[in-house]
Amino acid sequence: MAFNRTLITAALPYANGPVHIGHLAGVYVPADIYARYLRLKGKETLFVCGSDEHGVPVTIRARKEGITTQQVVDRYHELIKRSFAEFGISFDIYSRTTSPTHHQFASDYFRAMYDAGQFVEETSEQFYDPETGHFLTDRNIRGECPRCHSLGAYGDQCEKCGATLSPDELINPYNAETGNPLAKKETKHWYLPLDQYQAWLEDWILNNHKEWRPNVYGQCKSWLDGGLKPRAVTRDLDWGIPVPVEGAEGKVLYVWFDAPIGYISNTIELCQKQPEKYGDWQKWWKQEDTRMIHFIGKDNIVFHCIVFPAMLKAQGYNLPDNVPSNEFLNLEGDKISTSRNWAVWLNEYLEDFPGKQDVLRYVLTANAPETKDNDFTWADFQARNNNELVAIYGNFVNRALVLTNKYFEGRVPACGELNDYDKATIEEFKNVKATLEDLLNNFKFREAQKEAMNLARIGNKYLADTEPWKLAKQIETSDEVAKRVQTILHLSLQIAANLAIAFEPFLPFSSAKLRGMLRLNEAAGWEDLGRIDLLSTGEQLGEVSLLFEKIEDAAIQAQLDRLERIKKENEEAAKAEALKNWRPEPVKAATNIDEFDKNDIRVATVLECTNVKKSDRLLQFKLDDGMGERTILSGIAQSYPDPSVLIGKQVLFIANFPPRKMMGIESQGMILSAVDADGKLVVTTVSAPVKNGCQVG
Ligand code: MF3
Ligand code: ZN
Repeated sequence: MAFNRTLITAALPYANGPVHIGHLAGVYVPADIYARYLRLKGKETLFVCGSDEHGVPVTIRARKEGITTQQVVDRYHELIKRSFAEFGISFDIYSRTTSPTHHQFASDYFRAMYDAGQFVEETSEQFYDPETGHFLTDRNIRGECPRCHSLGAYGDQCEKCGATLSPDELINPYNAETGNPLAKKETKHWYLPLDQYQAWLEDWILNNHKEWRPNVYGQCKSWLDGGLKPRAVTRDLDWGIPVPVEGAEGKVLYVWFDAPIGYISNTIELCQKQPEKYGDWQKWWKQEDTRMIHFIGKDNIVFHCIVFPAMLKAQGYNLPDNVPSNEFLNLEGDKISTSRNWAVWLNEYLEDFPGKQDVLRYVLTANAPETKDNDFTWADFQARNNNELVAIYGNFVNRALVLTNKYFEGRVPACGELNDYDKATIEEFKNVKATLEDLLNNFKFREAQKEAMNLARIGNKYLADTEPWKLAKQIETSDEVAKRVQTILHLSLQIAANLAIAFEPFLPFSSAKLRGMLRLNEAAGWEDLGRIDLLSTGEQLGEVSLLFEKIEDAAIQAQLDRLERIKKENEEAAKAEALKNWRPEPVKAATNIDEFDKNDIRVATVLECTNVKKSDRLLQFKLDDGMGERTILSGIAQSYPDPSVLIGKQVLFIANFPPRKMMGIESQGMILSAVDADGKLVVTTVSAPVKNGCQVG
């Protein structure tokens, strides 16, 4: 099929917090690179995004901050919008799902599907908090993860192990806000019968989109192989778009139903505002010669490849042609998390590194998690800036410009005869356009940026090898040498002009600056890449300044210190959360006095208590058990940083366990301890003195 225009969408971020480097690396930088590339090529392009302002996450944030949900979305919508603008993410529109256009359009979309009989109605039992009278789903429910057994997993996902969950799978589910245990109660909802789309989806994706990234294709395949089930598209919540159906009072559209429709609503909003520039919105969504690309993160794959396409198909809209989803970016080895504040927030980054948007864009693309999860580290950030942007790209451009200023009053010198080395250099970057295009067309942004940097490397090497600053000493005396220096700088400046174009999708701010310094003709675009006549001889260059600056160790250390602080805060918060939600273990299976009496539990006084050498777990007790001395080892060292506090205490121990050797010491029994909610072990002691050796029963 021949496409005539491209609609690029980038996942609508939740307006429940600022955006961080994970968002930028996973979705917005790649989407922006692609949009800028297509525009540079003169292709008709529309790049749509906006804030996702419904759903549970924003309401949780509101409770946490003690403000209304509307205040939360207003605050973060503005903050997110500004951050994107500051980082040069070149959306044609950044709107929001609380806009009147969206509320109306999403509501109508639901109604149209409802009227066409495209939903199934079903009453089922849902989790309910008897004390507050609220139905709870998704992130409003927490409990123990059935996979990794960490406490505090959410009803839709475990943040610890990353598993996608449903509330029914949680062990001991409770109300995330109040901690109340939950009951179940009947409620009616509307379901999208995905099972009816199964055969069509299998054909569309598995047979006709084999070119999708393996991670995307693979996830789709595993969902399809598992068999699709109807999915509820409504919720019992008081924040969202009301379900436009009688008998649905108190119910709203599920956020994952309304949010992707936001791509359409935002297109409508833009086309209505600027019809002369963007045309009729239906052109972008219904005309077959429009190609749609969804940029998303991997936790969004099922919604963009299965659920939303089913909704689009139902109503006769275009389907995505590709969904280049990224994997996740981690931060210093840990999963990025908004709720745990484990992130580099864009607004904070800009306070610490003003004007260095392109540095972050560069590093995030260099480490883009295109095929697997990747890690952002501050050490790598510094190294890439200092060793690549500064030492290669910046150094080359700066040398070329400064030398031109010094020897030729800032005018592009003439190109003399090319020698073999010049020709070999030109040969080396002749293919840069074709190579870059091939990579960009296939969403291989990391490789593409590497190619652009390779061009800078070629330029840098050319100057280092030809050393015009050495030749320049004879400029006055030798005409031939003067001509040679002119040719070298002429060629270098042409390479610099190519760099301004090649890097434009990746580093828009630096390219604009470089274009200014070279006074590169505005009309020079992507098609001119690879040419060596981009600048005309005799042309006056602009003012020279550094493209990139070195980042010092102190700036990096400050970031590492901040993360260290957050890690400590999180550990304490996790402990507090575990304590808050602790419930006693269920009572064990029945036993009886005869069984109990088999254990000979007695009292003894602690005479000595010391750490066992080379073990961080074991304490060695010497006891007076009324019959003599007894040695017992106990694995409680972590709970007693100073074991001597136990000396003189009367403790309980089991006297008739068979002796057991550990770390070369024989342990003659077991000391009884209570396990506290946070895992701490507390030795059981006798409160009033009794004779050592007396029995407990
Ligand atoms: N807000 C969602 C997230 O951050 C993404 C929504 S994408 C859309 O995971 F398609 F629904 F808009
Ligand atoms: Zn888990």
